[in-house]
Amino acid sequence: MSALIPRPPSVIAPGAVHVPGWLTLAQQRRLVEACRGWAGSPVPMRNTALPRGGVMSVQTVCIGWHWQPYRYTRTAGDVNGERVAPFPDWMVDLGRRAVLAAYRDEAAAGEYSPDTALINFYDERATLGMHQDKDERAGDPVVSLSIGDSCVFRVGNTATRTRPYTDIELESGDLFVFGGPSRYIYHGVPRVRAGTGDPATGLPRGRLNITMRVTGLTDTDR
Ligand code: SIN
Ligand code: MN
Repeated sequence: MSALIPRPPSVIAPGAVHVPGWLTLAQQRRLVEACRGWAGSPVPMRNTALPRGGVMSVQTVCIGWHWQPYRYTRTAGDVNGERVAPFPDWMVDLGRRAVLAAYRDEAAAGEYSPDTALINFYDERATLGMHQDKDERAGDPVVSLSIGDSCVFRVGNTATRTRPYTDIELESGDLFVFGGPSRYIYHGVPRVRAGTGDPATGLPRGRLNITMRVTGLTDTDR
């Protein structure tokens, strides 16, 4: 539908910008292909175990740095002990172009150097509770790319995981950037709209989300 009814970019909160339909179909296909490779090896995509028991309903694989609740390491000690795949230069470029598209700020875009991405796969039942991205030591923006099924994305506030929040729809190809005063907003995915994705992306079902971040870590921090 987004091709027929263009949705303009919108500032949801200061520093939190939604750019609908930012990725072309070809870019989405390329990302799906890359993510499919990373989902298999060197560290398989899995449902992350939570420290108090239980597992996340979302399936995750990381590149650059491995995230597990609530820290980053180079190796996936809670999965198979392997070092995660490197963060590719083309993804750094994509992150910079994303920051430029959201903020229209050449300097901010040029400085942006993401070194990790969490790649999340949502089946029709998966959800992601309200949380802050706060395990990074740097305050650079988070760049989020969505492919496949649409979802409700809940954009909260920085003080509490409850109201006030704004629910928006993230569709395939959408970009969402949160930085500046919105860098530490609570956010989550209460609902995926099963069957709304276009299989032409290469993803026959479900939702893929890629969040790029700057960890602020160096290898001496491991
Ligand atoms: C996340 O908060 O890590 C993922 C957000 C999303 O799936 O849109
Ligand atoms: Mn998050």
